[in-house]
Amino acid sequence: MPIVRGKDIEVLFSASTIARRNLELAKAIAEREYEDLLVISILKGSFIFAGDLIRAMHDTGLSPEVEFIFISSYGTGTTSGEVRVLRDIDNEVKGRDVLLVDDILESGKTLKFTRDLMLSRGAKSVSIAVLLDKREKRQTELDADFVGFECPDYFVVGYGMDVAHAFRELPFVGIVKGDA
Ligand code: IMP
Ligand code: MG
Repeated sequence: MPIVRGKDIEVLFSASTIARRNLELAKAIAEREYEDLLVISILKGSFIFAGDLIRAMHDTGLSPEVEFIFISSYGTGTTSGEVRVLRDIDNEVKGRDVLLVDDILESGKTLKFTRDLMLSRGAKSVSIAVLLDKREKRQTELDADFVGFECPDYFVVGYGMDVAHAFRELPFVGIVKGDA
């Protein structure tokens, strides 16, 4: 088990497992034949997944535009969290096929808010790609079009995801053992 910052980290999805899955996701995305694709990475958690996914998309022949939106949600999954845009995209979405990329789909509040925002701005379509799906935590009717892995209900870190701003740099997804 890797030890990082003095903590044992149990590997849930290894770097090579994620890389293989990203290529499969990219192929599934390419099969949709989107016309004017705008990938929007939801910060901060999705930055590594989005970076790897768009390069896998390149390998399948896709050339999307890429944008970033910084979304913050206050309150945990069990309280009614308020979702806000902290930093918006610069690009026009009207008439375009938008692919939202996020790290984890949990309650669905973050992605529902962001999807509705893009639809209200006139996006032609809004699809959703997430690395991990914690299905049993869902509080909205929302589902992702492209899911890397079903995720058990553990708090996970790495591959862009943090606990208290730590562990984003891990090349794999893991669980902090002990008191984290
Ligand atoms: P929701 O779907 O709006 O409830 O929130 C999903 C967001 O919560 C994700 O984009 C993550 O930023 C965060 N999140 C949920 N579960 C975890 C976890 O296990 N580790 C790190 N971040 C998480
Ligand atoms: Mg997030």
